[in-house]
Amino acid sequence: MRQPITPPAPSVHGTRAALAAAALWAACLPALAQAPAAPDTATPGVAAPAAVADTPVQRGRYLATAGDCVACHTALGGAPMAGGLAMATPLGPIYSTNITPSKTHGIGNYTLEQFSAVLRHGKRADGALLYPAMPYTAYARTSDADIADLYAYFMQGVAPVDSAPPATDLPFPFIRPAMLAWNLLFHNARPYQSNAQQSPEWNRGAYLTQGLAHCGTCHTPRNPFMAEDNGRLLAGAELGGWYAPNITPDANDGIGQWSPQELVRYMRRGIVAGKATTGGPMAEAIDHSLHQLTEGDLHAIATYLLSLPAVSDGARQPAFSWGQARDDLASVRGQPVPALTAMNGAQLYDAFCASCHQAQGQGSGDGRLPALLHNTRLGHANTNNLVLSILQGVPRYGRDSIMPAFAQELDDAQVATLANYLLQNYGNPAAKVHAEQVHSLRAGTPVDQRLLTVVRWGLGLGVLALLLFGIWLVARIRR
Ligand code: HEC
Ligand code: HEC
Ligand code: HEC
Repeated sequence: MRQPITPPAPSVHGTRAALAAAALWAACLPALAQAPAAPDTATPGVAAPAAVADTPVQRGRYLATAGDCVACHTALGGAPMAGGLAMATPLGPIYSTNITPSKTHGIGNYTLEQFSAVLRHGKRADGALLYPAMPYTAYARTSDADIADLYAYFMQGVAPVDSAPPATDLPFPFIRPAMLAWNLLFHNARPYQSNAQQSPEWNRGAYLTQGLAHCGTCHTPRNPFMAEDNGRLLAGAELGGWYAPNITPDANDGIGQWSPQELVRYMRRGIVAGKATTGGPMAEAIDHSLHQLTEGDLHAIATYLLSLPAVSDGARQPAFSWGQARDDLASVRGQPVPALTAMNGAQLYDAFCASCHQAQGQGSGDGRLPALLHNTRLGHANTNNLVLSILQGVPRYGRDSIMPAFAQELDDAQVATLANYLLQNYGNPAAKVHAEQVHSLRAGTPVDQRLLTVVRWGLGLGVLALLLFGIWLVARIRR
């Protein structure tokens, strides 16, 4: 049985690339800690929802959707799962591979054990180690039963494509064997262990959040060694450009004042009136993956999120609480229109935004044109997402009303002037946008050269650790 799979819409942001870069950083020096220590009972796996549990292939399709495999394993305009999406890193591109069941170019010859080793250990069938641009660090939580269903889906539910994506070739010392040291020291390959003190719903949420849905890959900050900092689980992180906010239940810094229903709606639609909108990597995660999950699974994720330890960064009020409907347009309308370069914030807003977001920033009220007030986009201290929304627009898929991109119309100084005007009137007035910030976000993922050095040292040390471990092992065996 070959069932069609939804091809992903073209990735206009290159956010996957940014994510891959972030993941690579993460790979370079990691944290020892993994999932938060919880009283464990070894109840393996968490049952899939009955609605999708008819056959292994159907269950596997659902799990592949939850894992968003198609997003990375499909090149722009390419066949689904045939790989070839380049993820730019400062070290060179990492290409996703062909994971269709082609026997010549894909994973058609993989056994279940070999497939399982990819998801659990980041290890290819030929024994080579994968770079963590493939989020096996999260997928490792997946149960054996679910991996078997995923395998059934990839072998029987995906059309084989006989084409080879470009090979990944990173320079020394970022060679694949170096990942051995990294995995050895830091990767936790243990599947999710149910927590008997918690409800089945909570366990289902934890299983998905930590595992296939890999929320932490984006939302958990990196420690000084660029590894996921599990002391600040889901407390907000930069993905080279985009900012994935704090989604711990802190009342002001996180989602503590969102209801479970609002979280579910956000994961389903990406717009919750009075709370938040989306336009970046989260929109991709929603459009490719989360919006297709069952109500029960989204609710389970919300339940788990709201139970986590809150992490505060000292914000005094929630990011969604800022702003009120107001307008300065009376002061600019009826006046001679200045040259574009001489426009102030109110004039720029009137000229480019007010037609859709309305004179008072209140939006259309029917949810199609969102309000700019009471929107986290304008409430977070980190303003990168606001700038990127203006530059790139919001290319949500399958929507009739879209937010256009303004990168062509507006220069760096104008974007900064406009954004500061919006923050002052409709958002968090303490948050600021600078023209240099707009410049670097426009140029693409800002690559900090110091990070490159850190990474080189990181993997260099990894190799060293591996050597020392080898020597220690030999010495032990000889003794
Ligand atoms: C964030 C991007 C990303 C996502 C999401 C992702 N992968 Fe990958 N995957 C990659 C990259 C990149 C590679 C190649 C890494 C390398 O060459 O070291 C890879 C490699 C693989 C391989 C090894 C194939 C081979 O060439 O032998 C398999 C199998 C695989 N992925 C399966 C999956 C499955 C199943 C999912 C969903 C549950 C998934 N991937 C989701 C990025 C991703
Ligand atoms: C590919 C990276 C990525 C993944 C995976 C991801 N997120 Fe996000 N998330 C983001 C980014 C970036 C934002 C900022 C908004 C945007 O992208 O439009 C965001 C925004 C959010 C917000 C809104 C917060 C606010 O203050 O506006 C919530 C809630 C959220 N994510 C929850 C989740 C959950 C739950 C998961 C896992 C089921 C998840 N995210 C997975 C990157 C990601
Ligand atoms: C043609 C109508 C239109 C115009 C003009 C327009 N917008 Fe939008 N905007 C939208 C729509 C529609 C959305 C919601 C997109 C979605 O989520 O599907 C949106 C969303 C947004 C968001 C939230 C996006 C996110 O990533 O969370 C911001 C911020 C925004 N617009 C700012 C602006 C600014 C600033 C201007 C003027 C430079 C502007 N918009 C001009 C239609 C428009």
